Amino acid sequence: MRVLGIMGSPRIKGNTDLLLDEALKGTQSQGAEVEKLVVDKLRISPCREFYGCLKNGNCVIRDDMDGIYPKLLHADVVIVASPMFFYGLTSQLKALIDRCQALWARKYVLKQDLPCEGRKGAFIAVGATRGHKLFDGSIFTVKYFFQTIGVAYAEELLVRGVDKKGEITKHPAALKDAFELGSRMAQEE
Ligand SMILES: Cc1cc2nc3c(=O)[nH]c(=O)nc-3n(C[C@H](O)[C@H](O)[C@H](O)COP(=O)(O)O)c2cc1C
Repeated sequence: MRVLGIMGSPRIKGNTDLLLDEALKGTQSQGAEVEKLVVDKLRISPCREFYGCLKNGNCVIRDDMDGIYPKLLHADVVIVASPMFFYGLTSQLKALIDRCQALWARKYVLKQDLPCEGRKGAFIAVGATRGHKLFDGSIFTVKYFFQTIGVAYAEELLVRGVDKKGEITKHPAALKDAFELGSRMAQEE
């Protein structure tokens, strides 16, 4: 089983990064093969609405997304992780998601079958505040992203009240919850 982890925070060894690493360790505990993308380290232009993708399903922008599309389409499990920035995903992660308009075009405009429908995905998120609606908008975005790439939204881990770098290590349950989430995600059905 191939697991793709997408780390949306620019802060290396921050809360999102540590949570995602635990989740990926959980998948490895079940024998999964893991790849982690750190979006801040990649060159991903925002979508420019050139709409070349409406013609053939391919984005006309040449950057690191060239190598990311096949990974998104061929992972058995996709785990997306992000801190909340102004009640949303980070702009780096949102750029990657928006560029999947090319896959949306393949599926919904060109009516092409994507190679691997019916895979599983999970969303891990962390924010400093404790608001009831803190994650609502981002969950909606991730669900629609997953639907576009043929992944079912299977699990989520949403952690409130965590702000400083590495503060997640003081949380009573989050890292263990992340490991267990990963372990469940990698179990064969
Ligand atoms: C630009 C920016 C915007 C933020 N907006 C929010 C927010 O809307 N709600 C919230 O609860 N926390 C917000 N935060 C706090 C982060 O979500 C929080 O510090 C989180 O733990 C960072 O995770 P990381 O270490 O993985 O980057 C914001 C932080 C930054 C830098």
